[in-house]
Amino acid sequence: MKRWHRPRGTADILPPESRKWQTIEALARSVAGRYGYEEIRTPTFEYTELFHRGVGDTTDIVQKETYTFEDRGGRSLTLRPEGTAAVMRAYLENGLQGRPQPVKLFYLMSIFRYEKPEAGRLRQHHQFGVEVLGSDHPLWDGEVIALGYRAVRESGLRRLELRLNSIGCPVCRPRYREALLAYYRPLKEKLCRDCQDRLERNPLRLLDCKEDREYAEEAPHSVDYLCEDCRRHHETVKEALAAMEIPYREDFTLVRGLDYYTRTVFEFVHEELGEKTALFGGGRYDGLAEAIGGPPVPGIGFGLGLERWLAALEAEGALRGEEEGPDLFVAAPGTEGLHLLPLMERIRSQGFRVETDYGGRSLKSLMKLADRKKARWVAIVGAEELAEGRFLLRNLESGGQESYPLDMWDDVLTGALRGGVGR
Ligand code: HAM
Repeated sequence: MKRWHRPRGTADILPPESRKWQTIEALARSVAGRYGYEEIRTPTFEYTELFHRGVGDTTDIVQKETYTFEDRGGRSLTLRPEGTAAVMRAYLENGLQGRPQPVKLFYLMSIFRYEKPEAGRLRQHHQFGVEVLGSDHPLWDGEVIALGYRAVRESGLRRLELRLNSIGCPVCRPRYREALLAYYRPLKEKLCRDCQDRLERNPLRLLDCKEDREYAEEAPHSVDYLCEDCRRHHETVKEALAAMEIPYREDFTLVRGLDYYTRTVFEFVHEELGEKTALFGGGRYDGLAEAIGGPPVPGIGFGLGLERWLAALEAEGALRGEEEGPDLFVAAPGTEGLHLLPLMERIRSQGFRVETDYGGRSLKSLMKLADRKKARWVAIVGAEELAEGRFLLRNLESGGQESYPLDMWDDVLTGALRGGVGR
């Protein structure tokens, strides 16, 4: 028999693990909602050019990591390697400029990158992201960071560090670029291969290199080259974080791996995930809309990897993914179980979780099953009980058991499951 494997770098999310996913997704939705961010869903694939123009032709993501294919109509499509360019495309295409600005959005989406799979690095991962489109006010930067911070703190994470930098704008970046080139050119021979290639094209990227850290540490700082507008913006972001008591560390080598960033960039790292795999990151992208052919639309956002969020929670022992059993397990020993169907439907319609097993197992094996499933109550309506027009109700926590007429089924069960009977 052929043995099937899932594609490398992907994961199956099975119960009870999927409960943990539901927990953090619900928390993400709840926190986003408290800040007034609404959900957006975009297609899994986009025209390839969107990411080339948006994320940047020189980035690793676009050069090495996209899943690109031609459809049957000869169009080049790419599975989204990130969410921001797609959200901006949707904003422009659907005329969201016409709504009160800024437009505040969040998403939970799968993301595809052809990376070398390792701990915390997958080829399909999932992100909780938020984007604020249509304002360049620095307090939005503060709010976006606060939203992400609140989500991970409320989930129970503690061992986090926020790193913050500003990489300027098209006005001040050329001067910084020159300073970086002047610093790195004499070091060229000592740099890793990738950095030698990138030096003239995109010297900011060199600061991000994991191999040439020692040189990055000594390199000029972008914050020393900011124009007056960028400097004020950066100061206000820091004031916002201080006002909300969100601790941060300035990291002058933080540049991020996507070309669209301007001004604010930030990352949250977690002790257990390590330096190479940030828990989440984001920044401002005031030039992205124009880069993809639209009018100027400033924006700020972040992407938080759900797999890394769960890994960090696991490491801190912070997430209780306790299995929730059914409220009621119905056992019908010695019968096929057809008569159970309407009985169970009536209790489910009251909002309770009800399970059973069909096909005439013995009472002993049904009780074992109810126990394994961690049911709270068991109702026994086997052949014997049916003949008498009664049922037995057993509480699995106390072990107490009572017999009731079958025509009291709805009243007895809804009362018991709400906590009124037999405790
Ligand atoms: P990013 O830093 O490329 O930014 O990804 C954001 C987060 O997604 C990472 O911090 C990490 O948690 C998760 N992540 C990325 N790649 C992988 C992977 N291969 N395996 C597992 N998790 C991964 C962005 O994607 C930007 N769109 C964020 C943003 C939104 N900037 C502004 N708005």
